[in-house]
Amino acid sequence: MDFFDVVQSRRSIRSFLDKPVEADKLHQLLEAVNRAPSAGNLQAYEIFVACDAQRRAALAHASLGQSYVASAPVALVFCAHPQRSATRYGERGARLYAVQDATIACTYAMLAATALGMASVWIGAFSDQQVWQAIGSPEGLEPVAILSVGYAAEQREPSRRRPLNTIVHYLD
Ligand SMILES: Cc1cc2nc3c(=O)[nH]c(=O)nc-3n(C[C@H](O)[C@H](O)[C@H](O)COP(=O)(O)O)c2cc1C
Repeated sequence: MDFFDVVQSRRSIRSFLDKPVEADKLHQLLEAVNRAPSAGNLQAYEIFVACDAQRRAALAHASLGQSYVASAPVALVFCAHPQRSATRYGERGARLYAVQDATIACTYAMLAATALGMASVWIGAFSDQQVWQAIGSPEGLEPVAILSVGYAAEQREPSRRRPLNTIVHYLD
């Protein structure tokens, strides 16, 4: 799939088929994530892969009851690793770069899912503490985003966007 077709066709999908994600596809997606840029190439994030139904149910509960987190066959939890970035970049690394690194990684995963014929939805509304506990309370990590991934059980037209001229400001 051409990159611009991926960008045009991607939608947030909240209804998934009862069909697992093949291990090789998941691996391909994660390899794509691992090509994401990061501050100083430190990759100050960690990814937790939840395929187990009970674990996904716990993540759905932690995500204010968003049931599609449980019904999608895979949930990827992207966590910032502030200390990893702080070793080189101090407070700015801990506060900003680690979160940006994790966010870019999640974006790569989202686009890779589409390119591989799958669908996803980015989950940002969750209890940090409950998500952290659901992934085993990893010390020093901060959940930034959950990406639910699977095969779409719905099709959606392109979503509306602000007109470019209200977003983009060309400077003299
Ligand atoms: C930072 C962020 C947080 C989001 N949180 C949620 C969420 O908690 N639940 C949800 O269903 N969708 C969530 N979304 C998906 C957005 O609702 C969606 O991207 C937006 O409505 C545009 O629709 P589209 O992705 O289909 O183009 C989130 C997206 C982003 C980027």
